Amino acid sequence: MIAIKNLTKKFGNAISLDGINLDIHKGDYVALMGPNGAGKTTLIRLILGYYHPTKGEVLINGKNPIKERVEVLQNISFVPQLPPPIKLSLEELISYVCKSTQIQKEEIIHYAKEMELDIEPNLGKSFFKLSGGMKQKMLIAISLARKGEIIIYDEPTANLDPKARDNFHRLLKNQNHPNISLFVTHRLDEMKDIINRQIYMDLGKIIDDEKI
Ligand SMILES: Nc1ncnc2c1ncn2[C@@H]1O[C@H](COP(=O)(O)OP(=O)(O)O)[C@@H](O)[C@H]1O
Ligand SMILES: [Mg+2]
Repeated sequence: MIAIKNLTKKFGNAISLDGINLDIHKGDYVALMGPNGAGKTTLIRLILGYYHPTKGEVLINGKNPIKERVEVLQNISFVPQLPPPIKLSLEELISYVCKSTQIQKEEIIHYAKEMELDIEPNLGKSFFKLSGGMKQKMLIAISLARKGEIIIYDEPTANLDPKARDNFHRLLKNQNHPNISLFVTHRLDEMKDIINRQIYMDLGKIIDDEKI
């Protein structure tokens, strides 16, 4: 489970997260919502150990995501809001992912096909040079192949056309249920079949949290 206690994050004097308390348990499939700048991505980055908290703490199954980064990240499938500037070719990226996570290459290619990303003709191409939608599809394919106990997606469909969004939601629905999922989304209607809890943030605070 994810246990967040009194979590505050400041950048200089600007407060991005303001004393968040939140427990996410096994079986919670969460839509995390709220306006731009609410602190959603900052919260996710703290869960993943990208930032040090200014105050408070995050524990994932009792582990600290900064001090025990490798163990924590082993169980998490994550797709970021903005694709990272990876300079590897798709072929190199796939083999890197397979080596570091024990996923089979065929699994990634399977999910890429399901996302209608035509991978074979693009294997030699740099990830960096793909279109925004293709990058997103590739990262989604890797994350689905990964089958993490915890899945975290930060606005994964922002760059996708409606058909690709449908494919993504179909695949999520058909996945074996992870222990926990956390989706940052502005489209609750699309998510309602795969979530059972909705959390709203604004100005660095949780303003609503309900089971549905
Ligand atoms: N690395 C950073 N440096 C400075 N300010 C940041 C940084 N990351 C986020 N912020 C600020 O924190 C606030 C929350 O941002 P963010 O978590 O990205 O919101 P959301 O994902 O809900 O749109 C914003 O005011 C943003 O400008
Ligand atoms: Mg964000």
